Amino acid sequence: MKTENYLDTSIIAARKAAEILLGYFQKEKNVSFKSAHYDMVTKADIESEKIIVSTIKEKFPCHNILAEENNYEQTDSPYTWIIDPLDGTNNFVHGIPVFSISIALAKNGSIIMGVVYDPTREELFCAQHGDGAMLNNKLVRVTEAEDLSSSILATGFYYNRGKEMEETLDNIKRFFLSGIIGIRRMGSAALDLCNVACGRLDGFWEYYLSPWDFAAGVYIVEQAGGKVTDQYNEKVKIAPSYIVSSNGKIHTKMLDIVGNKERGT
Ligand code: IPD
Ligand code: CA
Ligand code: CA
Repeated sequence: MKTENYLDTSIIAARKAAEILLGYFQKEKNVSFKSAHYDMVTKADIESEKIIVSTIKEKFPCHNILAEENNYEQTDSPYTWIIDPLDGTNNFVHGIPVFSISIALAKNGSIIMGVVYDPTREELFCAQHGDGAMLNNKLVRVTEAEDLSSSILATGFYYNRGKEMEETLDNIKRFFLSGIIGIRRMGSAALDLCNVACGRLDGFWEYYLSPWDFAAGVYIVEQAGGKVTDQYNEKVKIAPSYIVSSNGKIHTKMLDIVGNKERGT
């Protein structure tokens, strides 16, 4: 099976999911809560995941699925699809048109393809090995900024409001003191990563993300010439992780701010 077929299937699944999300957007909310009143899930999240998983399973019934809203039976396949059916649920619930669908495919633990679709702007980001990163069929690349003083960054806030939140707020202060142009909090980590890939942002970091938030976006950034690591400058695995992503040129400078702590402290 060629990777193109994987990409085609992902795009079909993402577009079907987009139809479902747009059908609910700014209309019916159907919100329930996971851990806290700001950790939400909607009927749209659930239905979107259902259509993505059934589209993939129809073509690749033996592959594994790692998706946000449900657990799926594990198989012996080396392939795992990593799915966020709605990245940016808080925006979605509040009628803010910034959210996405994220689908990645990993083989033996390495990502080989990523698709992120923004249904309200109709922007489709994708990458598969060797072909670079594309936005609506045009190649994109990261920026050339070499300093924080010529950079604009984005961040996100993990749902936990404890130490993670405090450290993120400290880092925001440190970035501003370093002379950064600005910091954005858009609300969809998958799109934040794609915005690094296509040169709208010079970097993005977030204290804690799950594989479905970042798998496709990390691959798209790397294929666009950028860099993604954890806070210790180590390659990100398919597991919950700190994420630092950049155009490559400001990566060490970002790590100096967010990652200059001893392991385990
Ligand atoms: C969230 C978004 C947000 C990020 C959170 C994620 P969800 O995903 O990506 O930008 O800051 O950490 O959990 O819950 O909307 O799929
Ligand atoms: Ca997410
Ligand atoms: Ca989600």
